[in-house]
Amino acid sequence: MTMKPIQVGLLGIGTVGSGTFSVLQRNQEEIRRRAGRGIEITMVADLDIARAQAIVGKDVQVVGDARAVIANPQIDIVIELIGGYGIARQLVMEAIEAGKHVVTANKALLAVHGTEIFAAAHRKGVMVAFEAAVAGGIPIIKALREGLTANRIEWIAGIINGTTNFILSEMRAKGLDFDVVLKEAQRLGYAEADPTFDIEGVDAAHKATIMSAIAFGIPVQFDKAYVEGITQLGAADIRYAEQLGYRIKLLGIVKRRQDYVSPSGLAGGIELRVHPSLVPAKRLIANVEGAMNAVVVQGDAVGTTLYYGKGAGSEPTASAVIADLVDITRLHTADSAQRVPHLAFQPDAMSDTPVLPMSEVVTSYYLRLRVADEAGVLARVTGILAGAGISIDAVLQREADEVGGVGATATDLIILTHDTREGTMDGALAQMQALPTVLAPITRIRKEELA
Ligand code: HSE
Repeated sequence: MTMKPIQVGLLGIGTVGSGTFSVLQRNQEEIRRRAGRGIEITMVADLDIARAQAIVGKDVQVVGDARAVIANPQIDIVIELIGGYGIARQLVMEAIEAGKHVVTANKALLAVHGTEIFAAAHRKGVMVAFEAAVAGGIPIIKALREGLTANRIEWIAGIINGTTNFILSEMRAKGLDFDVVLKEAQRLGYAEADPTFDIEGVDAAHKATIMSAIAFGIPVQFDKAYVEGITQLGAADIRYAEQLGYRIKLLGIVKRRQDYVSPSGLAGGIELRVHPSLVPAKRLIANVEGAMNAVVVQGDAVGTTLYYGKGAGSEPTASAVIADLVDITRLHTADSAQRVPHLAFQPDAMSDTPVLPMSEVVTSYYLRLRVADEAGVLARVTGILAGAGISIDAVLQREADEVGGVGATATDLIILTHDTREGTMDGALAQMQALPTVLAPITRIRKEELA
């Protein structure tokens, strides 16, 4: 006997929603063979009813009120593609309370309100699936939650925002400054009209927060993430980095810090941070260009693994949404204790290992100082670093006339350091900045060897 198709309600039919609808239709036979029964979107809620109806055709019921979808007893799964923390949060909670399984691409919602949402889902015995929330079409949630369950995850570093990777790629290739490339990216449709969440690192931090939870079995704690975007990066730093054998990428980094001991003597901490990073040009991830995403995961047993693909777009993101629909179709009749836990670890086995403040992060640094080109400047700068116990890896000084702009009396001094505590570096930077021979704010970019 063939089972009747599972019925899906879609909240919001924009780019990802329409991709989900068309891929489900196009590949329905292949998907049915995998899922064991058909999967059909039978109801759509969207504010623009006419546009929605034109996309899905007359056989699908289109309504303006999302609550009509949640209230429909025929609907088994609700896909939330509205986005944001506002109405989307209410609708997801209402869908869970109504006993519906939920599929969402909403990283902001899960990074900020995930604890509340997953607790409610656990109580109701429903699934909240979110493959599409991190790195779009790349099945990184599946890899972390299932493929790598043998491992202690040591760290993850990802290019998890396509807009900023596109901008950085263009800045490097064309030697242009941030503002110029951002305008071009907006004209081409790569960047949103309001690109704030992308360029300020917030979108990447939402995704990194979700990965930190499933990698280490800690609650989602977006408020503890360090978030720095790419708006302050200049073409000069990208060029200097290149001369030193590095590329600059906006990375989301989550890292287990076994060596950390808190003032009260407790061992262990988690780094959760998003910021521009120098990455050795020879690493595969340094060569991920344009709007593509990539995630490196280091596990103690597997070693280094790399996942690469499209992090946004209609059908790539639909690919992840539909993978979740197939999972739910197979598993919704199973005892909820048999399912993969939402955050990979059993809810009663979550860890309270703290997310560390940025001052406790350990990394290496690229520093660029605009200095007066006179005797003793380098000695004073390196003296401050030595006094703070910060070890220098490399120094590059441009000839004064190569720099231009300010004239022959100033030059750029570039220093690469070995690993040090961020708090220690902050202290040294303050001292260097106070030197009368340091003529402009010091540029500090963190550096990750990723090995
Ligand atoms: N704004 C995101 C990006 C889209 O640029 O990657 C997917 O989350």
